Parts: sequence; C-alpha cells; structure tokens
Amino acid sequence: MRRPHEKNKVADWDALKPLKPSYALVGNVDLVVIRQSDDEVSVLCGRCLHRGALLADGHVEGNNLICGLHNWDYSCKTGICSYKPSERLKRFDAWLADGGAWVNEEDIVEWERDNPQPYNRDAYQELYADPRGTPLEPHVGYIQHLGANGRGINSAAIFAALSRQVAEDAIIAVDVGNNTYSFGRYFECASQPGLMSGYLGSIGFSFPAAMGAWAVTQEDDPRFKGR
Ligand code: FES
Repeated sequence: MRRPHEKNKVADWDALKPLKPSYALVGNVDLVVIRQSDDEVSVLCGRCLHRGALLADGHVEGNNLICGLHNWDYSCKTGICSYKPSERLKRFDAWLADGGAWVNEEDIVEWERDNPQPYNRDAYQELYADPRGTPLEPHVGYIQHLGANGRGINSAAIFAALSRQVAEDAIIAVDVGNNTYSFGRYFECASQPGLMSGYLGSIGFSFPAAMGAWAVTQEDDPRFKGR
C-alpha cells in the first residue's frame, strides 16, 4: 500500500471548502485541488490549457471547473474540456488520509518530465505568465521585455495604486480578458459596485458600461445619484 508522506500532502482536508478550487505546487507543477464530496478529492494540473491561467482562481459549476479568465470548462472528474474536448487537463491520483488530501509526488515529477512547465517563478509576471500568447498579439513579448527590464509596470502595482485612489462610492466598469483577471486578483474592493460582462467575447464592454454608470448617476435613484 502506498504510504503518504508530508511532501505529498496538497491540502488539509478541513481547510478545503467543498467545490472551492484550491492551489498547490508539487515539483514544478501547479495543481488545482477540488473537494468534491465528503470522501472524494480531485487533483488536476492547475494551468488552463487556453492561456495558462491558474485554475485555482476559477470556480466550480455543476461538475465542471470553470477558468476565471475566459470560461473554458473542465470536468472535475476527468479533466476533459467541454468547450474543446480535444483538450484535457492531466488528472493525478489523489486520496484522503490523516486529515489531508495526498498525491504521489513521483507521479507528478514523472509527468513533468514529459510535460516541462514553462513558468519561471522568479521572472516577470511569475505565476501569472501567459505561455501561450497568440500570433494575434505580436507585442506581448516586447511588453514583457520592457517589464523585465524595469521599463514596464506590473499590473499588481497598478491595481494596488487604484485600490488606494478609487473613491468608495465609485462605480467600476471592467472590460474582459486579462485586465478583468488582474482586477479580480489585485483590486481591493471597498464598497464599490462593479460592472462586468457575463460574455467573454464582449471586448470593449467597459466603455459603454461606464457611460451607463454615468447616466444612472444623473437620475434620481438615491443609490446612485451624485456619485
Ligand atoms: S486562460 Fe483559461 S479560458 Fe483563457
């Protein structure tokens, strides 16, 4: 029988909320850990197969794990992507013991040998790098070069500054894509309401949303008037 040891533990069972994705790192592989029921845990490779977002930042709907960036959906049990079934997240064997969820580190390290992970955790954007930039975005590499050489600004710094500056009664309109991801991750909301699109293809959403937010402040509704 396989004996779990401390290196293989990916979560304390009590700390795992049901159906709430949680992050773990084993070897150099990012993992997402999902408590599916009182006696079942699922451990999948934790990087989205679309653009590499951390799936621990996503959420679970029904039987699927949904990426927080552009909504690709993966079966929690099989890792198969419903949106694009030819894509499948690696699922690792996992089990419960001694109040924790465990995996076999050797399995993961072996898988990593055949699937080298492209993330340099000490470099620009670290955990949040996108290793799959598309030909439609030829300038991403240059922007990263500027960032790595001190000539760019990390989004964490921008949102930290915004968190300090934005008025507590502001209405925040957010676009779609990476800026939404950064907003969700880094912006410390006080009591500001946010306007976000529920549809991933609605690039440019934030501008008309901001116009709508302004318009509502001109009405008599006391919740928004004068903001
Ligand atoms: S990075 Fe996950 S859906 Fe795009």
